[in-house]
Amino acid sequence: MQEYDPEAYWSRVGQDIQKRGENFVAGDDNPFYRYKREKFLARFLDTIDFENKTVLEVGFGPGGNLRHIAQHHKSRKLLGVDIAQTMHDLASRNLAPCRQPVELHKIDGRELPFPDKSVDLTFTVTVLQHNTIEDMFVRMVGEIGRVTSDEAVIMEDIGTSPKRGAEGSFVRRQVDVYRKVFAKSGFRLADVSFLNTRVSSFWHNLVFLQLYKRLAGRRQTEGEPIGAVIRTLIGGPLPLMRILDILWVEKKHLAKMVFRRE
Ligand SMILES: C[S@@+](CC[C@H](N)C(=O)[O-])C[C@H]1O[C@@H](n2cnc3c(N)ncnc32)[C@H](O)[C@@H]1O
Repeated sequence: MQEYDPEAYWSRVGQDIQKRGENFVAGDDNPFYRYKREKFLARFLDTIDFENKTVLEVGFGPGGNLRHIAQHHKSRKLLGVDIAQTMHDLASRNLAPCRQPVELHKIDGRELPFPDKSVDLTFTVTVLQHNTIEDMFVRMVGEIGRVTSDEAVIMEDIGTSPKRGAEGSFVRRQVDVYRKVFAKSGFRLADVSFLNTRVSSFWHNLVFLQLYKRLAGRRQTEGEPIGAVIRTLIGGPLPLMRILDILWVEKKHLAKMVFRRE
């Protein structure tokens, strides 16, 4: 197995998603991820108070989150950092039409180019889980703690045990791991909530990961566009899955962890 290098990996993903018409979201784009995105915006991103704050997104990807905040919230200043040049280029294009300017930096989150406590609120969305090397993870959290004066909202996939992805590109840490590392920077865990997509995730994993990728042997790299048949198979039962997702509550997968400075 090839050693996972975040910069090389995400630069390649950034290239692939530029081939798609709609490219505001990093990673794969299919009906399940679109539904998940809609739920994420309503239940996670739009419930954060950005009003009149200096806001930093670490790992902005194609810029979809910053674009949404610029369009729907009244923050004072928007900042972003990302390790991949292709993501930086893509986000710059996606954010160009926004009236509120967004300051983007192509830089590794282990060394944030901002003074101590110069940001009111820092957030991540599925970024720390992609820093699988422990030292990298700890240093990124340390930097977030250094530059953030009030609140860090960390939205990452949670698991019951550390589990690596196929290419070693992600690790599902437990909430307690985040709690302990943020505590070292003087932040306490104030709230945790889960997105709850258990049933729809199960269906997506069965059809896309097991049948399409594994059994049919389709070599689909992350971010590449998919065909109409697999798109329909994933999307067809989603109206029913949406209802079942509400009924079947879970305490893993995408979580929103709110950390406040002590
Ligand atoms: C799954 S994508 C998420 C993008 C975005 N947050 C979103 O929700 O669409 C992960 C992003 O984190 C960035 N990233 C990963 N490790 C990083 C690091 N050490 N420093 C800065 N950015 C990083 C990647 O380049 C990629 O754009």
